[in-house]
Amino acid sequence: MAVAIVLAAGKGSRMKSDIAKQFMTLKGREVLYYSLKVFQENANIRDIILVTGQDDIEFCKKNIVDRYSLDKVSRVCAGGKERYNSVYLGLRQVEERDRNIVLIHDGARPFVTDRMIDETIEAAGKYGACTVGMPVKDTIKKVDENGFGVETPDRNYLYQIQTPQAFKYDLLISAYDKMEADENYKITDDTMLVEQYEGVRSKIVEGAYENIKITTPEDLEIAVKFVEKFFDKF
Ligand code: CTP
Ligand code: MG
Repeated sequence: MAVAIVLAAGKGSRMKSDIAKQFMTLKGREVLYYSLKVFQENANIRDIILVTGQDDIEFCKKNIVDRYSLDKVSRVCAGGKERYNSVYLGLRQVEERDRNIVLIHDGARPFVTDRMIDETIEAAGKYGACTVGMPVKDTIKKVDENGFGVETPDRNYLYQIQTPQAFKYDLLISAYDKMEADENYKITDDTMLVEQYEGVRSKIVEGAYENIKITTPEDLEIAVKFVEKFFDKF
């Protein structure tokens, strides 16, 4: 059994909307609802820790957790300034009995599937760290500060990284403790963290191109289509 930390403490600045993107609705239900629902229904998940803004804790408890009977959500806690602050605060809420495999998931990524959860849990048990990802479709270029391409890495070796990401709890918390002690840290996700501070490489498990993170306004239009496709019971 594993514990999931679902992140919903971001401000969503790239969405440029009044309401944070994780609370925007798709076909009448919040983006965050869809993300949580998949974890709620997965047989390998025992507990869910929801990390949100201090001012949104009550809203989440009442309007999402209670309203949709998401009884695996055992805690709703406040996040921090950056995504990694929110992860760290969530990790510290994990109960002793759950300190085995921990999954980190973006609340703004509603099309995670049961299969991704099962496969990341399994791979984390085997390799210590894993993430879902997909081969990139476009050619990727490294550029210089003047906007000129300087390098074109071989696309066969490039993946776009998604969540969920799963880890052995002790490995991830140890990496975070080391990052705390380091003044020059700069990380964008937890797989990068365990690479840098623990020297552990993450196994990549197949995600899906539909497993988008809702980030900019046009993502909402696609997301409505995906809700119709994946959550057809509504
Ligand atoms: N997140 C979080 N705490 C933060 C920043 C982000 O819990 N301090 C969460 C977001 O709520 C989101 C996920 O991490 O579910 C992925 O982050 P991102 O897509 O970058 O969301 P935001 O930071 O909210 O958006 P933006 O970067 O456009 O401001
Ligand atoms: Mg962000």
